[in-house]
Amino acid sequence: DVIDVRSLVDKGHFTYDPGFVATAACESGITYIDGAEGVLLHRGYPIDQLADNSNFVELSYLLLFGELPSDEQYETFKGLITNHTMVHEQIVNFFKGFRRDAHPMAIVCGVVGGLAAFYHDNLDISDEKQRRVSAIRLIAKMPTIAAMSYKYNIGQPFNYPRNDLNYAENFLYMMFSNPCEEFKINPVFAKAMDRIFMLHADHEQNASTSTVRLAGSTGANPFACISAGIAALWGPAHGGANEAVLNMLDEIGDESEENIQRFIDKAKDKDDPFKLMGFGHRVYKNFDPRAKVMKETCDEVLAELGKADDPKLKIAKRLEQIALEDDYFVERKLYPNVDFYSGIILNAIGIPTNMFTVIFAVARTIGWISHWNEMHSNGFRIGRPRQLYIGHTQRDYPTK
Ligand code: ACO
Repeated sequence: DVIDVRSLVDKGHFTYDPGFVATAACESGITYIDGAEGVLLHRGYPIDQLADNSNFVELSYLLLFGELPSDEQYETFKGLITNHTMVHEQIVNFFKGFRRDAHPMAIVCGVVGGLAAFYHDNLDISDEKQRRVSAIRLIAKMPTIAAMSYKYNIGQPFNYPRNDLNYAENFLYMMFSNPCEEFKINPVFAKAMDRIFMLHADHEQNASTSTVRLAGSTGANPFACISAGIAALWGPAHGGANEAVLNMLDEIGDESEENIQRFIDKAKDKDDPFKLMGFGHRVYKNFDPRAKVMKETCDEVLAELGKADDPKLKIAKRLEQIALEDDYFVERKLYPNVDFYSGIILNAIGIPTNMFTVIFAVARTIGWISHWNEMHSNGFRIGRPRQLYIGHTQRDYPTK
């Protein structure tokens, strides 16, 4: 049931809903989730069908424009993205202002916000064409900026994007190619990377997307809004979870029952803030449909590497098994989420842990910008949550 609170507001009422568990802040036609049934649809298409038959660039078109592209539309869109992958040469100097050991999320957050200073020619947000140019710039430049943040971190020269490669291949090339060795793309890794991008592309009004919408509702430019989204994504309860999952698997150490049980007991202990990372979801009270695809991809990548008995995968699978049989997790409907297996795949591809959330940000940029664009196309009011005031009543300032 949907209650439109606008009639209540006219009578001087408002609703109290910490964490927005029951409050819709907008209308949207981009993504549908049925958390009880474990269903995720983008523009009506189920995520597993998209993961099997589509690719990240086509999905980006679908999210942004609402329909799957014709062959011609797809080629044009792909061409536009390819043509915008380079960043302004001055951005190289911007990178040099950061400490080498800065977390790549800190760098990406800063650089993306700074793009407004480089691309101020298209910042009229009331103009649909200008919004589209900004969207394409962001989708195209995110992998470049992400890979640059990694190269800067490890002290290697930046790689310029290559137009002959697809989106995922180009990202892997910019990450891993160096002037001393010949670089060969592993097609299984490129497919896995593309899937990771697809599975993280959009998830309706999650914390970071809502942040982008809230920032966007003030009329802020798209680069500033996406930078706000990146900041919100960084936390371990949201995009930082895949990094936290891998750290947790490392800490568990081995698949012994005793070690795993210790972590499960810790997660169940209400006096301990620890949560089982990669488990639970605000909306899914069933299997996260993305986690199923991610688990398959994980098996494919590890088989390709001849690591089907990877110790981290073994710990993860045993942990999942034990948790799913535990009353605490069953009663609360806590299932593995998308990030439970994504970290293992990224680790197997050779991506360092501190880049996991950056990769999530690369993928989610299309979701963020599609919501931002939808908001500007449909009309909106400035986002302005109310509060339940619990402070002092009026009192006089003490005079001496
Ligand atoms: N481990 C142990 N207990 C958990 C976990 C967990 N991972 N997740 C939820 N619970 C418990 C809560 O403590 C609460 O218990 P209670 O009823 O006894 O108080 C109950 O399950 C309900 O959980 P909520 O806290 O109400 O769930 P909420 O919707 O607020 O939080 C969240 C969802 C943030 C994802 C949470 O499950 C969590 O922190 N999970 C671990 C981090 C994680 O994997 N995040 C990734 C999310 S997916 C994404 O961003 C792509």
